[in-house]
Amino acid sequence: MLKVTIDNHTIEVEEGTTILQAARMIGGDVVPPALCWYSKLEGSGGKCRTCLVKVSQGSAKDPRPMPKLVPSCRTLVADGMVVQNKTSPEVLEARKAIVEFLLINHPLDCPVCDQAGECDLQDLSYDNGKDVSRFEESKREFDVIDIGSKIKLHMNRCILCYRCVYTANQYTDKRVHGVLYRGDVSEISTFISQDIDNDFSGNMIDVCPVGALTDKTFRFKNRVWFLKPMNAHRNCSVCSGKVTAWMRGQEIYRITGRKDKYGELEDFICNSCRFEKKNISDWTIEGPRNITRHSVISQNHYEKFKKPSVIKPLEERTEQMPDQL
Ligand code: SF4
Ligand code: FES
Repeated sequence: MLKVTIDNHTIEVEEGTTILQAARMIGGDVVPPALCWYSKLEGSGGKCRTCLVKVSQGSAKDPRPMPKLVPSCRTLVADGMVVQNKTSPEVLEARKAIVEFLLINHPLDCPVCDQAGECDLQDLSYDNGKDVSRFEESKREFDVIDIGSKIKLHMNRCILCYRCVYTANQYTDKRVHGVLYRGDVSEISTFISQDIDNDFSGNMIDVCPVGALTDKTFRFKNRVWFLKPMNAHRNCSVCSGKVTAWMRGQEIYRITGRKDKYGELEDFICNSCRFEKKNISDWTIEGPRNITRHSVISQNHYEKFKKPSVIKPLEERTEQMPDQL
């Protein structure tokens, strides 16, 4: 086992664990944000740089600090390593710069974006962003296009994290989209005019940390903080059938996979569950979902029914307190 200290918390981890994984084992403020790494997607990470941390001691054997900040999602723990995340002013400054960099081309259209309220970049910029932008040039612009009958691509919002590409590669029959071109003209797109229509392609919407890929069956139908996320399941022959049903009253507005506290899917669900089962009779509703993530969705989201205190009938009260009446 290897001993690593992150922001003054020490933990023992197995060889091959990354700093980010070790930080998640500790939990809380120690965990750096991660917009491109995804525990269930092989090869992910190393693209967004939001998870940069300072290694102030490389290992017990070689205590020299690492000369530059390192991406915690791609850096393996060494025995005796000392890492700083929130306790390093240098890291916090770098994170601000990364947010500014990511927002160079990302439009500030949160008020009209379907991802608002559940957007990792929005959360990241609230926590680390500056209140003004120094970027005066024009942002790059793309047309909004359909990539498949149920998915809309809003390329202006894409931060090129590659999560959707890995999802298509690893969870669908055939990948027909990817990152085309290089540098500041890179874009997510399909080859020629191919449609993405394989069984698990809808999961690309769930893994996208921003509002670049959205569900056409839900777009502009409601704001997520007006909906109640409920655990629901059905017998499905293709996937686990365990989903989150986003409801308002008795109506299901959208179906997504269930996400953990880091915003990662617990199960990848099939397109039929996601896009075609919108009737309450299609599902067994288990109950309100536990919203652990810091999010506006947790506002007005009640997980337990608290019985109001019962006002005793007048006769009963007079019996108990005859002198006071
Ligand atoms: S579309 Fe979304 S998931 Fe795909 S690369 Fe862009 S930001 Fe990442
Ligand atoms: S999460 Fe580490 S570089 Fe993106």
